[in-house]
Amino acid sequence: MDSLHRVAHRGYSAIAPENTLPALTAGVLAGATFIEFDVRTTADGVPVVIHDRTVDRTTDGSGKVWELTLDEISGLDAGTWFSPAYAGIGVPQLTEVLDLLGPHDAELLLEIKPPATLEQVKNILGQVADAGLLGRTVVQSFDPAIVRLAGEVAPDVRRGLLRDGFDADQVEIAQELGISYCNPRMSSVLGSPGTVAALAGVGVSVMPWTANDAALWPGLVDAGVAGLITDHTGELTGWANSLVA
Ligand code: G3P
Ligand code: CA
Repeated sequence: MDSLHRVAHRGYSAIAPENTLPALTAGVLAGATFIEFDVRTTADGVPVVIHDRTVDRTTDGSGKVWELTLDEISGLDAGTWFSPAYAGIGVPQLTEVLDLLGPHDAELLLEIKPPATLEQVKNILGQVADAGLLGRTVVQSFDPAIVRLAGEVAPDVRRGLLRDGFDADQVEIAQELGISYCNPRMSSVLGSPGTVAALAGVGVSVMPWTANDAALWPGLVDAGVAGLITDHTGELTGWANSLVA
């Protein structure tokens, strides 16, 4: 078996507030081979790293990300909701995340959340290119239109399609989109290992989310996944190392 990718979902989000610089750093330190994070664009056109459509759940503010300016988002506390130990930690700009991850070996699994326009996708991938990280990045989205835009903007960048469940014609869709990864909900892999094999047959790797239950990791590996996207990076690194020891 090729070595298993260990993907830190929103950083090492079991121990630090998701999608913040401490969580991303912790993912690197815990041995992730990919750091996953979510990108949205502010009202004034700046890519920031945050999961939800609104800032309500993960900050002390409220409102939709695309209706708030960078100044407004920069003033928010994105740490206290998780623990007072992280009080004052902010929502990072994409450029800050690229600066942080650049010197490390881990690859970037950059999810572009919808809605995203062509200009926004260009701007996001332009920042990745400026940081010299396009070759170490996989761009993924649940929205096939965004996956397609990413391919138009940066034809050489590896791309992934996120799914809740595999589509009936998943292999054909993957080939049409030209993706390298098709990443579904974990239950889809366990329920449809044949699709994992069929995708592998056309060069498409599968990394399911969110694989937090360690009891399910052996079955997922047996199903042929290339990696596991988890909140529990440290535990996954320990387990994966035990497989090759
Ligand atoms: O990378 C997989 C995973 O991040 C997709 O779901 O909602 O956590 O962005 P979500
Ligand atoms: Ca994500």
